[in-house]
Amino acid sequence: MMARVYTTTLCLGLLGLALLVANSISDATELRPEAGELAEPIVLSDRCPASFEQTEAGVCELRNMYQFYDSLQGRGVGGTKTALPEHRDGFSPEQIDLGRYLFFDPALSGDGSTSCASCHHPNLGFSDGRARAVGVAGHAVKRSSPTLWNVAFLKHLFWDARADSLEEQAQGPLYSPEEMANTPAQLLATLQDNETYRRLFRQAFPDGELDEISLGQVYLSLAAFQTSLISLNSRYDRYAHGFHAALSDKEIEGMNVFRSFVARCAECHTPPLFTNQQVAVIGSPEPEGLPLDIGAEATWNAPKMKGGFKVPTLRNIAKTAPYMHSGRFGTLREAVAFYTGGRGHAVPEGVDMHIHWHIWEPNLTDVELDRLVDFLGALTDETFTPAIRDAVPSGLTPIGVSPLNKSNKTSHTSDSVARDSGDSAELTLGAAS
Ligand code: HEC
Ligand code: HEC
Repeated sequence: MMARVYTTTLCLGLLGLALLVANSISDATELRPEAGELAEPIVLSDRCPASFEQTEAGVCELRNMYQFYDSLQGRGVGGTKTALPEHRDGFSPEQIDLGRYLFFDPALSGDGSTSCASCHHPNLGFSDGRARAVGVAGHAVKRSSPTLWNVAFLKHLFWDARADSLEEQAQGPLYSPEEMANTPAQLLATLQDNETYRRLFRQAFPDGELDEISLGQVYLSLAAFQTSLISLNSRYDRYAHGFHAALSDKEIEGMNVFRSFVARCAECHTPPLFTNQQVAVIGSPEPEGLPLDIGAEATWNAPKMKGGFKVPTLRNIAKTAPYMHSGRFGTLREAVAFYTGGRGHAVPEGVDMHIHWHIWEPNLTDVELDRLVDFLGALTDETFTPAIRDAVPSGLTPIGVSPLNKSNKTSHTSDSVARDSGDSAELTLGAAS
């Protein structure tokens, strides 16, 4: 294990090195237990994660430069000094940390094979490097795993915006037979039967009822952890806060295309989150041979929304290939080139789709497309990636292995797809190098 960590160190960049050092400092006090047993009792952190400040009431509140800026009004679309939308915070450090253990623990799935992190892996941009997700026993999920960075700001969740809170959302994967295939009763029993979890829940919810863990506490803790995933310190952000040299000339060119009235990207992918949080019909293609995904039509039972999907954030987008709800595009270049293909060019014949008016024919040149990709690369910031623990309370291997299903992949080999491996330990270290 240590030897592996050292070899990985060699190929880490400066930032990665700093992160690894930070990780090993925080891990230094922990013994490394054998699989299945816990060498040291797990204790929940009583400190807020990076970018949060602990209030007098003992909860964590987000602190960020963007909070100094005014609201979106009157700033024009795509302006750099725009405020962030409302967000979820105010969880205690213990709740956030408990959520982290739950998130990485495969015990949350019906057969103990799959954790949230199996499909939302920190080293793969909190996505999974797959075109479409794979759940317990190799079940194919029909959409790709979105990133979880900055979900604290999202009003609607899932590609088709069908959930309105993180607590509601979590119940989707937990109980879906294709994803984690658990039941509320079994999930509660698993946690309640585990002495460590009973202790940790008491610590995170000191006012809770007797000794009973509740499902509400499980969902809340998962939400608390996810809202701590803040990515707002990319080179783009430094530029936005006034450090002009943070972006290269090419990236600035790309930013100008992105914000232009010709490309119109910023109309939907609006800074600083790079999403306006709306659902839009853009008519992106399904993978070869797969039926049309009607998307948000089902959410509102509205044919006008056929093929409508939530505008995804573009934060850390260089890390989360393949792209779109379907994972149809293996590279960022292909995803961006989709927008020059002509309005509705990928809509199957005979399907009536109400394509959004900002999707048209901008006729971007190859150079402009390259610059857009350059700019999107400047939106990467994983500084506050949380540490993956060596052990979780169930004693199972953290993260778990979501079985490989090769036919689920696109034929393109983007970096993260090529890295994909059934061995979660390899995945963890390999992706960091
Ligand atoms: C089998 C893979 C898989 C597992 C396991 C999984 N997810 Fe997901 N997750 C997905 C996919 C795929 C989507 C998109 C589904 C859709 O839009 O219909 C998604 C969507 C989400 C979203 C919405 C993000 C957004 O931008 O709308 C959140 C939040 C999320 N998952 C959190 C979790 C949590 C918490 C767990 C564990 C309880 C979990 N996921 C387990 C694959 C998975
Ligand atoms: C009308 C709103 C709208 C405009 C304008 C728009 N997008 Fe999008 N974008 C979306 C939606 C909606 C999706 C998700 C569609 C899907 O999954 O089928 C998306 C997806 C993407 C993705 C893939 C994200 C992921 O997580 O997989 C990228 C990259 C992207 N857009 C870049 C751009 C660029 C670059 C431009 C400008 C040339 C642009 N978009 C213009 C709405 C828009």
